[in-house]
Amino acid sequence: MSRKILVTAALPYANGHIHIGHLVEYIQTDIWVRFQKLRGNRCVFVCADDTHGTAITIRARREGRSEEQVIADMREAHIRDFDGFQIEFDNYGSTNSIENREQCEQIWQKIEASGLVVSRDVQQLYDPEAGTFLADRFVRGSCPRCGAKDQPGDNCSVCSATYSPADLKDPRSVLSDATPEMRTAEHLFIELEQLREFLIEWSQEPGRLQPEVARYLSGNFLGDALRDWDISRPAPYFGFEIPGHAGHYWYVWFDAPVGYIGSTRQWCEANGESLQNWWSADADAEIHHFIGKDIVYFHTLFWPGMLRTAGLKLPEKVHVHGFLTVGGEKMSKSKGTFLMASTWLRHLPPGPLRYYYASKLGPGLDDLDLNPEEFVGRVNTDLVNKVINLASRCARFLSGTTLSQEYPDDGGLFQQGADKAEQIAAAYEACNYNAAIREIMLLADEANRYVDSRQPWVIRKDPARGDELREVCSVTLNLFRQIVVYLSPVLPGLKLQTEELLNSRISHWNDAVTPLTGTPVSEFQHLMKRLEMKQVEQMIDESREENAAEQAAAETPVPQSVEAAGPEFHPADTWQDSGDALQNEPLADECTIEDFVKVDLRVARILEAGHVEGAEKLLQLTLSLGGGEVRNVFAGIKAAYDPQTLVGRLVVCVANLKPRKMKFGLSQGMVCASGSGGTEVFLLSPDSGAVPGQRVH
Ligand code: 2FM
Ligand code: ZN
Repeated sequence: MSRKILVTAALPYANGHIHIGHLVEYIQTDIWVRFQKLRGNRCVFVCADDTHGTAITIRARREGRSEEQVIADMREAHIRDFDGFQIEFDNYGSTNSIENREQCEQIWQKIEASGLVVSRDVQQLYDPEAGTFLADRFVRGSCPRCGAKDQPGDNCSVCSATYSPADLKDPRSVLSDATPEMRTAEHLFIELEQLREFLIEWSQEPGRLQPEVARYLSGNFLGDALRDWDISRPAPYFGFEIPGHAGHYWYVWFDAPVGYIGSTRQWCEANGESLQNWWSADADAEIHHFIGKDIVYFHTLFWPGMLRTAGLKLPEKVHVHGFLTVGGEKMSKSKGTFLMASTWLRHLPPGPLRYYYASKLGPGLDDLDLNPEEFVGRVNTDLVNKVINLASRCARFLSGTTLSQEYPDDGGLFQQGADKAEQIAAAYEACNYNAAIREIMLLADEANRYVDSRQPWVIRKDPARGDELREVCSVTLNLFRQIVVYLSPVLPGLKLQTEELLNSRISHWNDAVTPLTGTPVSEFQHLMKRLEMKQVEQMIDESREENAAEQAAAETPVPQSVEAAGPEFHPADTWQDSGDALQNEPLADECTIEDFVKVDLRVARILEAGHVEGAEKLLQLTLSLGGGEVRNVFAGIKAAYDPQTLVGRLVVCVANLKPRKMKFGLSQGMVCASGSGGTEVFLLSPDSGAVPGQRVH
């Protein structure tokens, strides 16, 4: 039975342009939506600009314009960029819309009526130079929990602590670099703690969230009383004034997710649909949010809490992805890798990026690396050499005539591809696009082996073999089309070209399981050009220049959520692993599982790290195993690590190692690391989501 699915991607801020970091999410979501539509599901994809908050005001002031003018121009630019990358929204709204205001008011009324709102005077940081209270992200300083420097005002990228900007040590305003002053202002709070039981139940429901996200929530938030959520900001603030609370505005993160509903409402009104059928608690729709890992707690704590209180539909799933790195590093303006969507489109078409991202996106939260050489290589090898080549080697021999009237004997090749339909569909459904692409490329390999063995370009030279030529080309073009159907959520442009070439629409996933017969073949047009490394280099050069010019124009940098990036990620498939390490330390004798389980390895958090007086190689670590269980450990990692950078980090420790008395004190365990010693020591870390105390198996 066909499903009814509402899909959202995070609403981009109206204070900045779309860049290739944003595009990871929009491409991921657009592929999922196109896949659902092709499967015959009723799927609606909504998004909007996220227009409120201090960042917009700052930009408007810097440009000497009103906030509304900034929003209007940015909206046009965003829509152009999305269009250029073939991101096809069913509705693109704005959080600064009448619909959104009304939805916010309705939700707010229910939240107030439920007794969840309290008012308190808070000390808030105020920028005396910019003349405004400071939004969380506009204050930076040292994390109050782990001491990491230059952290944003709401949460720490090192230890994941959440806090209010006033808790930061050494705060400074990112607007003016002034030291903020503390001022008192009344704020409204939502008592989330009242919703904790519900949030545990909702978030821990199997299948609701990726397992690492569910664990992150239970390990970092849901185990303790939830802090009240500060949802108002005093004037001046660009946003909606809260009814009944003159001079107070909803914090941007209150009205932003409501923008999902506001945008759906616009779509409903334009399409004669009722909003109730999508968002009321008993609607038969599934709601799927796609977001980056930096905004998980807004979408999995605050947002479901708001929806539940307002009696609205809860998300079926929240799909979380990692950040983009370029060449293994954070996107960098000075290196030119902070690439804007529009810059990309001036140099390259959208298809290659869509394909490359798809080939690297899995169901987890790992960061995705755009490696320029790998990008060019993969697109040329897979798309140009394997896929397009199938059509270019056969289509011209049938141009102006038709495919065989009956599908010829292909030795079972088409059927083999058809048999993969459900497996490939399941991979798309699970956002495991790289698995889908791998399967599709195996089919392309098979199809190429077929063409190579039948050599239509040789058959063609013999006029007596005309029937055979038609048969071989009909098979190849059908195998090509089957691959294009499977790739069509990723490459809508190639789908259109194939529809024109073979004069037949691709409108359903099942088009991959039935071969085409007897349809005319159009004149062959080139489908895709090989990429040259030079094109990418020129694009990066231009981006570097653009960024330098923009930097000079802007007095103050405006933070973007992508800049709060996670750890560096080096994709395994770009590594060239030598055998040196293995040779230097050959594998140990075999052990049994019983031997292995004697060693109790646990996830631990480094609470403190410091130098040890008189010790050349050691650092002293205080490790937390959770629940108040703390260990003192001396580790020989001094040459490799600055103790300050270790605080808050998760490691793996041997928790049942017999305590050892050392000159400097008792060592109660060992942290696991690889490497030859000295500066060549590499601590092991679990993936994000792991929590202290978990056993490592
Ligand atoms: O992080 C961001 O870019 C936000 N503008 C996302 C908002 S998503 C939703 F909740 F509105
Ligand atoms: Zn921290």
